Amino acid sequence: MFSKIASQLHAESNVLYRLRDELRQQGHAVTDLISGNINEQGFLFPQDLLEEILARNLSKCRIYRPDSFGQPAAREAVSAYYRGRGHDIPPECILITPGSSISYWYCFKLLADEGDEILCPCPSYPLFDYIALLSGVKLIPYRLDETKDWSIDIDQLEACVSTRTRALVLISPHNPTGHVATPEEITKLVDVARRHELAIISDEVFSEFLLRQDALPRPGTCGAPLIFTLNGFSKMFALPGIKFGWTAVSGDFEKVRRAMRALELISDTFLPVSEIVQAAAPEIFQLGEEVAKGFAARIRKCWHEADALMHGSRIFAYVKPDGGFYVTLRLQGISEERAAEMVLERNHVLIHPGYFYDMEPDHLVFCFVQKPELLHNAVSALIATLDEMAAGN
Ligand SMILES: Cc1ncc(COP(=O)(O)O)c(C=O)c1O
Repeated sequence: MFSKIASQLHAESNVLYRLRDELRQQGHAVTDLISGNINEQGFLFPQDLLEEILARNLSKCRIYRPDSFGQPAAREAVSAYYRGRGHDIPPECILITPGSSISYWYCFKLLADEGDEILCPCPSYPLFDYIALLSGVKLIPYRLDETKDWSIDIDQLEACVSTRTRALVLISPHNPTGHVATPEEITKLVDVARRHELAIISDEVFSEFLLRQDALPRPGTCGAPLIFTLNGFSKMFALPGIKFGWTAVSGDFEKVRRAMRALELISDTFLPVSEIVQAAAPEIFQLGEEVAKGFAARIRKCWHEADALMHGSRIFAYVKPDGGFYVTLRLQGISEERAAEMVLERNHVLIHPGYFYDMEPDHLVFCFVQKPELLHNAVSALIATLDEMAAGN
């Protein structure tokens, strides 16, 4: 009765999550240092402002007149966002989607046939496995080199290219390593893409959260044959529930034209984006700019707090993230699985072992975006437990 794929579609139960649920059932407060949904951490788009914007725009969509690419005003607003950052991506090359995860699915369907390959960074946030499964695409991991601040190992990446490779995914800022691709890395990546006729899928979901730089280096205008730039409101304005994202397409004229033509039909098949959200998008961009800057400043503060607590540890090392919400610790002489369990059992703090992200042993990953007091207590407790574990070895 079911497809072959259906037999692979079941969420796996995991020791850590079972333990977390048990602790909560026993009435303990568990601090989640994993979730990237920063609404839970007190980052909320101002309610009154959102209400005003939605109310003001409601009248624009009382009569349903969908546009498969997304409403022109919403596309123009995305184009203006890039223009404000020095990138010319015209509204005609922008497709509105319900978020980056769906944008990935569109791109995979557009670029790859059953069994074709797409190169993805490793380690990585485990987002693509099911998207690839659902779209019949084979993911080939390329390596991020921890000894070089998690930068892309370009030679190894190029060695992964086969006759079936169709695209490569760049995530910058990267989740969970926090690496921001440098202009040099992007130039090399674009060179590989051009020589092997590969599309680049550039995931910039954490673009607003740079911890040291002012501007994000982007491949969008670097001369690759075809680039899909993915972003949306979920992280940018801490509005994951609004479900507004986009794919901005740039590159060689003819390839962009063909891509937009196919994307139009994929999107038209579902017309999945709420009309009210599209109508509100230009004002969310405009009036939300200061809000996003405020979030970015608070997130930088969170990082400095976590960094100050962890600095100088002899039990673990870490590459300071350039952007995003996460940091990755490399443990010395402690098992990652045991460490994650101990921290949860003893301190009621949920962190991830590195294997969740296909990292080499032994690593821990956590999200440093938290309410200040919880962050301080949770990171202090984490360090104390790791110290104790190391002393007991
Ligand atoms: C790197 C990365 N890309 C994409 C997404 C999904 O973004 P969206 O909420 O727009 O679907 C996430 C979610 O955390 C992410 O970490």
